[in-house]
Amino acid sequence: MIFVTGGAGFIGSNFVLQWCAEESEPLANLDKLTYAGNLANLDRLKDDSRHLFVRVDIGDRKAVGALLREHRPRAIINFAAESHVDRSIHGPAEFVQTNVVGTFNLLDETRGYWAGLPQTEREAFRFLHVSTDEVYGSLGPGDPAFAETNAYAPNSPYAASKAASDHLVRAYHHTYGLPALTTNCSNNYGPYQFPEKLIPLMIVNAASGKPLPVYGDGKQVRDWLYVEDHCRAVREVLKRGRVGETYNIGGNAEMTNLDVIHTICDIVHELRPSSLSPHPSALITHVKDRPGHDRRYAMDTGKIKRELGWQPREGLETGLRRTVQWYLDNMKWVTGVTSGDYRKWIDLNYAGREAK
Ligand code: NAD
Ligand code: TYD
Repeated sequence: MIFVTGGAGFIGSNFVLQWCAEESEPLANLDKLTYAGNLANLDRLKDDSRHLFVRVDIGDRKAVGALLREHRPRAIINFAAESHVDRSIHGPAEFVQTNVVGTFNLLDETRGYWAGLPQTEREAFRFLHVSTDEVYGSLGPGDPAFAETNAYAPNSPYAASKAASDHLVRAYHHTYGLPALTTNCSNNYGPYQFPEKLIPLMIVNAASGKPLPVYGDGKQVRDWLYVEDHCRAVREVLKRGRVGETYNIGGNAEMTNLDVIHTICDIVHELRPSSLSPHPSALITHVKDRPGHDRRYAMDTGKIKRELGWQPREGLETGLRRTVQWYLDNMKWVTGVTSGDYRKWIDLNYAGREAK
């Protein structure tokens, strides 16, 4: 079997659902169930005996070590992390704890387990660490996209904590020979994304007539990838990626935040014409910028295309349409995840960012 960490979060749960739909191998899903982890994402697997859910912190060495010895996985895919830049600005400690210390503990327990495997299993073993484009820093408008050879220059506490974990993974391969790989991906969107991130927040607010808070001028550029394409890329890297390598993953779909928001407004208006008047773009509200806000990210995905033949299947316009439709169809899921804690976060992050 394989281990997936963080498999109750946004990308992890999409990965687990895709894995169970397209592969026969069982998996154990190790997740602490923070505010971002939600078992409702995995409802479809309730009766699937190949999916074993275990509530555990990746930093809990004793528990992780026992799970490794009990289930003897042939691979670990590490999605578990604190993942929201704005939260890392308000409370960086949790990011260092999970993303740096947690990943270290997971890696070190894995090293002990891996070292004790018989040779053929040791050679076949893989540790795949899932990371972000944000470790590379920020691009100017005419700069070439990030390649795997770019130096790291993380700017937010989130990006710095992910960069630190990437370096540990690299060192565990280089020093101990652990068969590790790292993927760095651009901004994901799609079903089950927690509505604190740009795209689901805008969909949910537009659909319920609430303000659409744009940080600063809204001209920051992100590259967007539909989550199922990311999950396919991770599976390709697990299958055929070269050990010790890193692979950039992206959608080749750069767009300014304002354009993303306007597109969402148009789709919401089209799909829900009667309930909303005026057009939801009237709800766009410019608010105080995020401190240290990176201006632009873009990924050069030549390596993964050349070596593994991977490229995105979903375009941004069609992917956004599917995503808006999914949220409109699943408002019950939204209500379920936006509990009291979510309200507290919205108050903390948006208070004092009075409209400009
Ligand atoms: P998410 O915040 O939606 O989910 C994170 C999951 O990890 C949750 O289920 C949470 O309960 C779990 N978790 C957190 N701390 C844990 C711990 N100490 N032990 C065990 N489980 C823990 O995040 P996401 O958006 O799904 O991102 C998944 C991974 O992909 C992260 O490593 C992130 O850095 C990376 N990534 C995300 C994006 C994106 O656009 N969302 C882009 C590139 C890379
Ligand atoms: P986010 O989804 O937080 O991803 P990241 O910061 O990791 O790229 O934000 C995407 C972009 O949207 C980013 O430039 C910040 C911006 N943003 C807003 O303008 N308003 C918001 O309310 C949020 C959450 C994000």
